[in-house]
Amino acid sequence: MRIVVLVSGTGSNLQAVIDAVKERELDVEITAVGADRPGTYGLERSAAAGIPTFVVDFKAYTNRAEWNAALTEAVAAFEPDLVVSSGFMRIVSPEFINAFNGKYINTHPALLPAFPGAHGVRDALDYGVKVTGCTVHWADAGVDTGPIIAQEAVAIEDSDTEESLHERIKAVERRLLVSTLASLAAASHS
Ligand code: GRF
Repeated sequence: MRIVVLVSGTGSNLQAVIDAVKERELDVEITAVGADRPGTYGLERSAAAGIPTFVVDFKAYTNRAEWNAALTEAVAAFEPDLVVSSGFMRIVSPEFINAFNGKYINTHPALLPAFPGAHGVRDALDYGVKVTGCTVHWADAGVDTGPIIAQEAVAIEDSDTEESLHERIKAVERRLLVSTLASLAAASHS
């Protein structure tokens, strides 16, 4: 299974996937890693692992449609079986979804459909829920919407800050992303 991973930030989820492939726990080929801006640590991690990288810089385009078209073209060039949004903080267009129909997944640090959006951890904490978690789902053109593939719960502690909670969620999220990719890879072989 050829995968393209999209990142915007530090890429610790991506690193978990890279490590799992290296340890032969996960049978996928990370064909490329793409980002929406240059200079992210996720790109550095990929380059260090010898994985091709590309940037479709959101700020370099005059409008969202042009950026979306460029992103679609850049990803399609790698002919992926699956595209993974792993901390990729951009909403893609319906055209992108159509181009990778049934092949685009996202990971989110909350138990969807609760707390979608860029501040899922903070919003759960502010609301006062006692349990949150993470979700891996088929992504559509909405904000963290689309059929859920896997979820895991994380208990919120009274002393939690957004940072401490996000770190605990990410430890679970990394494992969940790797195991979901393993299941999808196994299904694609059968
Ligand atoms: C993850 O929690 C992801 O779900 C969220 O941002 C975080 C990215 O972390 N959208 P990293 O870049 O993989 O370290």
